[in-house]
Amino acid sequence: MSNVTATPNLFANPVRLLAPMEGLTDPLMRQILTQIASDGGRAYDWCVSEFIRVTQHVLPEHVIYKYVPELKTKSQTDCGTPIHVQLLGSDPEMLAHSAVVACGLGAVAIDLNFGCPAKTVNKHRGGSVLLDEPTLMQQIISAVRQKVPADIPVSAKIRLGYTDMSNMDDIRHAIADSGADWLTIHARTKTQGYKPPAYWDKIQAFTTLPIPVIANGEIWTPLDAQNCMTQADTQHLMLGRGAVTHPDLISRIDTVDTEPLAWEKLIPYQIDFLNGEAKSERMLMGRYKQWLGMLSKGYVEAQNLFNQVKRERTVAGALKQLSEFID
Ligand SMILES: Cc1cc2nc3c(=O)[nH]c(=O)nc-3n(C[C@H](O)[C@H](O)[C@H](O)COP(=O)(O)O)c2cc1C
Repeated sequence: MSNVTATPNLFANPVRLLAPMEGLTDPLMRQILTQIASDGGRAYDWCVSEFIRVTQHVLPEHVIYKYVPELKTKSQTDCGTPIHVQLLGSDPEMLAHSAVVACGLGAVAIDLNFGCPAKTVNKHRGGSVLLDEPTLMQQIISAVRQKVPADIPVSAKIRLGYTDMSNMDDIRHAIADSGADWLTIHARTKTQGYKPPAYWDKIQAFTTLPIPVIANGEIWTPLDAQNCMTQADTQHLMLGRGAVTHPDLISRIDTVDTEPLAWEKLIPYQIDFLNGEAKSERMLMGRYKQWLGMLSKGYVEAQNLFNQVKRERTVAGALKQLSEFID
């Protein structure tokens, strides 16, 4: 049964979410992307943290803070977008206790990852490999649901299967019996990886569940978003790589005829990014180049800038290139 007390009005309107993407939507990128969305007039309803792996121990507070520093600011990014904490693991008790620690730090919702395709993670019985063990999935979600305060939602994020879609029915039953408050579906199997297409129509099989279903996968344009909603039979969407490549995608989905965000308008956000916090300058530069690389799909200017910045090692150097580029 769904825990109705935990989802007051979250789904009163179609939700638009920023996907968890390990190594991509880190705290700084979440900060920038949620700000662009908010400034563009359609804020994300929430975003989800990169997964935090739970193995043999309950997560210590400092680890949770490291992944989700927003917990120190009311569990919101600077522009006020809430963040949900995502956990990944296979031990129901460890996950449940870790979720309780996260809630003690101010987590406003817990999401459980059953979609990660990484070999090391799967080898240790975590992420998408659990789609082949629906009973364990159910036990994990139930254990977390029972331990976490009733007013804090617990959700699950899945793919359509591990190697194929043959046990979608079992997965659906597991979710139905788990007490999950909602479900996000990346419309591919683990074997299908991140390659197009995404099988949005397969999501429909889950919309008979008495909980909200959020569709995800391969949404790059407003038209993709419309097709996805129609085929999946849900109004709720999570945006992944498309939101990094086209940071204004969210505002263009629901407002037809919105002009795409001009390159010049993106420059101040890039400056903010380069002035943001990171473990090291090297890492920040790596992240910036990664973002420019993705922006190149949407902006020719980004491709040109990328070519100028790619050998640059310092933030000061990148900022100089950016200012010369503006000139
Ligand atoms: C680099 C990268 C890292 C990801 N990390 C996570 C993660 O930490 N947790 C998760 O649930 N999904 C993760 N995903 C999956 C995305 O949340 C999303 O389901 C997937 O990218 C499909 O959406 P898209 O086609 O719009 O990108 C990751 C995807 C990418 C590309």
